[in-house]
Amino acid sequence: MRKKIIGLYPGSFDPVTNGHLDISFRASKLCDILYVAVVTNPKKQSFFSLEDRIEFLKRNFQGKSHIRVSSFNGLLVNYAKKIKASIIFRGLRAVSDFEYEFQMALINRTLFQKIETVFLVPSEKYVFLSSSAVKEVAQLGGNIKNFVPPKIVQYIKKKTKNTVSVTKPLHF
Ligand code: PNS
Repeated sequence: MRKKIIGLYPGSFDPVTNGHLDISFRASKLCDILYVAVVTNPKKQSFFSLEDRIEFLKRNFQGKSHIRVSSFNGLLVNYAKKIKASIIFRGLRAVSDFEYEFQMALINRTLFQKIETVFLVPSEKYVFLSSSAVKEVAQLGGNIKNFVPPKIVQYIKKKTKNTVSVTKPLHF
């Protein structure tokens, strides 16, 4: 019997965007099981809690038993070893992503020779999207419905409401 190909799509997903979902579905077609894994980095402050970020992803993969949502801390390659993944998937939106992604891919392969990184290109509809842009638009009251999955729009709106600090004028 053929060995199952296990893929790993890691990220901050703070929050998941339509671009992330697009990459997840493309990656899931290239392996038998895909782990979409949320990093829990105590040094990097995330806007949404780990629980929220996992929940946002889970809501969008309901009924897709070959896509598993998980989380990890520490080195990505250690997690890849743990789940027996042979491929790390990452999305490439533009040349600006390349340098960071290239460095990460080489560091990961130096740490763990058996891991390969596969870069996937999202639909052109999403190449401009990023989690930071989504947060900024939401915090400033803009419409995020074209940027994130419908299942989480309301929650993000609620969570980002009143999170931008408005400097009050001084009273002389
Ligand atoms: O969505 P992001 O923030 O671009 O994802 C970055 C992520 C989580 C893939 C990267 O920060 C990561 O792999 N972190 C784990 C720590 C690690 O293994 N670092 C060494 C590779 S440079």
